[in-house]
Amino acid sequence: TDKYAVVGYPIAHSKSPLIHRLFAEQTNQDLSYEAILIDNEDTSFNWAMADLKQRGYKGINITVPFKLDAFEYADSKSSRAESAHAINTFTFNEDSSTDGDNTDGIGLVNDIEINGQRPFKDQRVLILGAGGAVQGIMEPLLAKQPACVHIANRTAKRAEVLGQRFETDIPVTASGWDDIPTDESYDIIINGTSASLDNKLPPISEAVLKNNSLVYDMMYGAKPTIFLNWAKQHQPSCTVMDGLGMLVGQAAEAFYLWRGVRPETAPVIAEVRKLMA
Ligand code: ATR
Repeated sequence: TDKYAVVGYPIAHSKSPLIHRLFAEQTNQDLSYEAILIDNEDTSFNWAMADLKQRGYKGINITVPFKLDAFEYADSKSSRAESAHAINTFTFNEDSSTDGDNTDGIGLVNDIEINGQRPFKDQRVLILGAGGAVQGIMEPLLAKQPACVHIANRTAKRAEVLGQRFETDIPVTASGWDDIPTDESYDIIINGTSASLDNKLPPISEAVLKNNSLVYDMMYGAKPTIFLNWAKQHQPSCTVMDGLGMLVGQAAEAFYLWRGVRPETAPVIAEVRKLMA
């Protein structure tokens, strides 16, 4: 039985062990997956990784607050990891070296394209927020050839800096909340701010919404988030999705890196949601 785990602080409520167990059942893979707490005060991240390698783990997911430590630790990094400047997946090699990747962005992109049935190609995309979460999705999203991407953030400067980082033919623009261009509305709107955590709405105009917009909140919970409720209220025809699909999607991509098979995410999202209710 090959061993995998997720590390973080805190970690007790992680859904990753459940998600990977469901993937393993679905694809008939023989593996174990645990949640392991790394106590920042007693144990350094590097020491914990050396210990896990020594105990024969094949791969590790890394969550809050260690994604930057993981970025520093990896011996080789994928381009997704480089562009996200964060790592959430390690593969430990036979020679004890560590490959680092970031599957968060592709997890979101696949959730929207596969489960939301909305390919990004030629779509007008609005992204709210410019922090770590948004940085992580930019490269996989731009690779899907949207028509354009506008990044809006409370701190406009941060959106501008992020927007300028990517070399692409796709028009990427940036602004603060009040200057979002709404001469045309958006096909896909993604909330990547942490405002939903405080039950707060990014203060944007409902003019960004149109008929059949797909509205996505990277946050999730037992109930629809405040942002998704806002969208539905102003544009009942829009499709809303929360970040549970992104969580399951990043896990699916990590599973694929380790096992070479891509599990189906929709039944796993449904199962995890049932247990959250
Ligand atoms: P994460 O890793 O979750 O992205 P982060 O890097 O701290 O965390 O970024 C948080 C994002 O949420 C930022 O875009 C932040 O806006 P600023 O760049 O202006 O700080 C945004 N954010 C946090 N709280 C917010 C709030 N109450 N209203 C609007 N935006 C908020």
